[in-house]
Amino acid sequence: MKNKHIIIAIDGYSSTGKSTLAKQLAKHLGYIYVDTGAMYRAATLFALKNGFISENHFNVNDFVLELHNIIISFKFNSDLGFAEVYLNGENVEKEIRTMHVSGFVSKIAAVPEVRYRLVKQQQQIGKDKGVVMDGRDIGTVVFPNAELKLFMTASDEVRATRRYEELLAKKDNVTYEEVLHNVRERDYIDTHRENSPLIKATDAIAIDNSNLSLEEQFEKVLQLVTKAI
Ligand code: DC
Repeated sequence: MKNKHIIIAIDGYSSTGKSTLAKQLAKHLGYIYVDTGAMYRAATLFALKNGFISENHFNVNDFVLELHNIIISFKFNSDLGFAEVYLNGENVEKEIRTMHVSGFVSKIAAVPEVRYRLVKQQQQIGKDKGVVMDGRDIGTVVFPNAELKLFMTASDEVRATRRYEELLAKKDNVTYEEVLHNVRERDYIDTHRENSPLIKATDAIAIDNSNLSLEEQFEKVLQLVTKAI
């Protein structure tokens, strides 16, 4: 019997390894992987580059008027094995992962008009199923009927350490304390915003991976996927 194509929604806090798991699953299942955080990050990069947001001001109204000029797309990179994100035709995969962008992204992601546009695009990408999508509102808003919903958690310190090591490897000059502060601050804004706050869908399965190796986590999730398919 041919396997059913499903939607796998992975939500959770910052740096809980959602994208690592999503990439593993997509590769294993031959599904499309969609990193929705990358879309909010690309929109943030646009806002920063065009002067709509800075440390002490956010010109939301003018930014919203410019939204139609933000074209976000994905292109599969066969060397990397996943799709990279493009902003108005330019590969911004590296630029969007800096601490600078992380420092502003939650503010951009709290703007209802931004969410409306990006959610519509995400629903379009996933309409034929066979996708693994990770973010904050995938199981609650983007695909409330997803066949499998996972909600990832891990302790603040474990998450900050992971993100800090990633940034160090990329030569981003940050301290552990800055990263921990950013992880906590984003969690706070993401869970307290009015529009589509980060919340566990009632039918999502919670996975705390503080003490799980990548292999253990993958095995566990694969069993859930097999059941759902
Ligand atoms: O997954 P990430 O850390 O790259 O996401 C960056 C930010 O984007 C995150 O702090 C909150 C926001 N985001 C969101 O609001 N909704 C999503 N579906 C994905 C990300």
